[in-house]
Amino acid sequence: MLTPSHKDIRLGSSNPPRQSLPMGDGGEAVWIDVIQKMDEVYTELVDSQTELEEKNLRLEEAHDFIGSVLAAMTDVLIVCDADGLIQQVNPALETIVARRERDLTGLPIAGLFDDKSQEAVCGFLHELMNGGMVAQRDVSLAGPDSQKALISVNCTPRRDHRGRLVGMVLVGRPIGELQRAYRELDTAHQKLTHTQQRMLVSEKMAALGRLVAGVAHELNNPISFVFGNMYALKRYGEAITKYLSACNEKTGPDKMQALRRELKIDQVLRDIGPLVDGTLEGAERVRDIVQDLRRFSSNQEETPEVFNVTRLVRTAVDWVIKTQRMKPAVILDVPDMLEIRGRKGQLHQIIVNLVQNAADVLEGNPGGEIMITGEKTESEVIVRVCDNGPGIPPDRIDKIFEPFFTTKPIGAGTGLGLYISYNIALKQGGDLTVANRPGGGAEFTLKVPLDEHPAT
Ligand SMILES: Nc1ncnc2c1ncn2[C@@H]1O[C@H](COP(=O)(O)OP(=O)(O)OP(=O)(O)O)[C@@H](O)[C@H]1O
Ligand SMILES: [Mg+2]
Repeated sequence: MLTPSHKDIRLGSSNPPRQSLPMGDGGEAVWIDVIQKMDEVYTELVDSQTELEEKNLRLEEAHDFIGSVLAAMTDVLIVCDADGLIQQVNPALETIVARRERDLTGLPIAGLFDDKSQEAVCGFLHELMNGGMVAQRDVSLAGPDSQKALISVNCTPRRDHRGRLVGMVLVGRPIGELQRAYRELDTAHQKLTHTQQRMLVSEKMAALGRLVAGVAHELNNPISFVFGNMYALKRYGEAITKYLSACNEKTGPDKMQALRRELKIDQVLRDIGPLVDGTLEGAERVRDIVQDLRRFSSNQEETPEVFNVTRLVRTAVDWVIKTQRMKPAVILDVPDMLEIRGRKGQLHQIIVNLVQNAADVLEGNPGGEIMITGEKTESEVIVRVCDNGPGIPPDRIDKIFEPFFTTKPIGAGTGLGLYISYNIALKQGGDLTVANRPGGGAEFTLKVPLDEHPAT
């Protein structure tokens, strides 16, 4: 590839000088000297040639290496000079634009791109000249048959040994494939969301089914004893009417006494009070269940008003404790006045829920205690409802605010109390949290702002 070989040099230049030099005194020595010099020169020449060949070999290897790297690149590479004329491209670019490097060399770089991208590409070099950065710009290469290939481009300036800008290197990553994959992913995601929504709907339906079953069960009990009581009252009414008619007919005292025994009037009079009370209790229970249902489905808006939280806590506690068979001890540590502006009915609902839950876990526990504290800070009122029950197992504590989470038997609870309470607290601009007390039992902390923000 380079100059003639070692052997060529020796053959081609060893004879002629000997014939032309004169012989005589000392001539021999001169010849020897000349020949030695020539040998030295040839040796140097041969060494240089060997060195040159080695360098050439390394150069070729480096060239091949760079070529293989460029060929292996999936990213597009374009090198251009300071005038924006193409100097080199890699095979990835050649494939996309379906043109050979030799046909592209010397052409303006902008010509490789589609009409819309050309202006942007022309601007890249100017931006680099002005010290700017060209990173992650999306432009389209113009392929054969008006095809376009979207690439995300990074450009870096190319400088000479004095640091002057002599061109730029553009590296572009084809993102058409990525976009397609993204679109596919997006479609898959949409499908998944859709399926999730469907699952949510069926879950809601199942939850509704559970709710209806629970509610039906809860209603069944009071309604059946309201019915039973009403039939008894009807019978009692008939007996009393019969007895009063006999009274009006001026029946004699003996007959009246016999009739009184026969109609069990004394027993009837004794039973009427408890029967009416029982019926009322049943009707109240039905009313409470209906109210609970309404609170679940209600979207009626309550207007904020100024009220004393302490009074509200007292009534809520009374409500709950009155209905408990075995009443837990209640310790109230609340200042007389805790005034806020908010939605009274909703706050009442939260406190009733919390106290009811505490009373439920203490049922059958003779030492059961509910402690309620209240305090006012600069911006909020904090009410804590604590109990000395079993507390909440750690694996359930994250779930208790979820809708329909309940550990109570069917008919005893819907699992909506805390879910609704939590959402009411949030809606009022407050918060409801739970923790287990170090000494045992649960502690619910309700925070409500002193003045409900008009926007909430
Ligand atoms: N003070 C408490 N101590 C221990 N566990 C509690 C306490 N309060 C609530 N829980 C647990 O949280 C669950 C959910 O309570 P939540 O008030 O949401 O529903 P519920 O009381 O089961 O039914 P509902 O209130 O709708 O009648 C309860 O079933 C219970 O397991
Ligand atoms: Mg509850």
